[in-house]
Amino acid sequence: MARPTILITRKWPDQAQARAADSYEVRLNEDDRLMTTDELVRAAQGCDALLPTVTDRLDAAAINALPASIKIIATASVGYDHIDIAAAQARGIAVTNTPDVLTEATAEIAILLMLGAARGAPVAERMLRQGDWKSWSPTGMLGIEVSGKRMAILGMGRIGKSVARKARAFGMEIHYHNRRALDPGEAEGAIFHETADSLFKVADVLSINCASTPETRGLVNADRLALLPDDAVLVNTARGDIVDDETLIAGLKTGRPAAAGLDVFNNEPNFHRGYLELGNVFLLPHLGSATLSTRTAMAERALDNLDAFFKGNRPGDLVTA
Ligand code: DGY
Repeated sequence: MARPTILITRKWPDQAQARAADSYEVRLNEDDRLMTTDELVRAAQGCDALLPTVTDRLDAAAINALPASIKIIATASVGYDHIDIAAAQARGIAVTNTPDVLTEATAEIAILLMLGAARGAPVAERMLRQGDWKSWSPTGMLGIEVSGKRMAILGMGRIGKSVARKARAFGMEIHYHNRRALDPGEAEGAIFHETADSLFKVADVLSINCASTPETRGLVNADRLALLPDDAVLVNTARGDIVDDETLIAGLKTGRPAAAGLDVFNNEPNFHRGYLELGNVFLLPHLGSATLSTRTAMAERALDNLDAFFKGNRPGDLVTA
């Protein structure tokens, strides 16, 4: 039987690409050039499967333009808000994602953002680089201490739970809001809030860890930011569209929140330039999963799903609308 042909839309670590080439006919993107949707659809001609990622927007129009030969879209990402799942299902195209493998790396970035934003790390580092550090100062560059404070987690899934575990090492009290309360064993003492409003009121640090869904988009709005305690730090490692940028920028100007650490943005990479004018934000370019081991594991998990599918089995990470 002919080997299935896979379009791998971005360049992945060598180990993963070599494994793909062992099992499949592969169309690689060695230059790692971003493809437009039209280019992606053209490149998919004659392919049996796509291995895209978060930078590939596969909306209903793109899905409907894919050749009939495409049977599965195995995205190398845990998030799948870039894919219209209902449109794929309507065409009988299976969709899989890559949970678990990026949990720890992403939670590490949440902790980095929390500390960096709370202590003003980006401004301080810039001061050194620019040669502007004149002296240690008893009252200069005073930040916010997070140890022993309340960590409020919006979305207590895999990554939220990992952030909670790491925050406990700082003696933080864990609060969370989720669609449902966790079983006590899973919650490990974390305090459940029925509503997002209730969570925001106790959020000394607010860590956004929920998926982007119609329910969560724009959830961080002006009314909720107004509920934050003094000196609150907001951290987003989930998706930019959970936050309304204009509102957050206005909030950061008036101290609610006092600081923010952001790894994800609306309309990446063309993020709202208003953030650049603020000294109390720590900005990273969507680095949550950016370690060699994690990126390799993501691509390999997508390949696991393809392997299962082409052997006639149900892939482990099938997602449905
Ligand atoms: C994902 O996999 O959804 C992440 O955003 C990539 O870092």
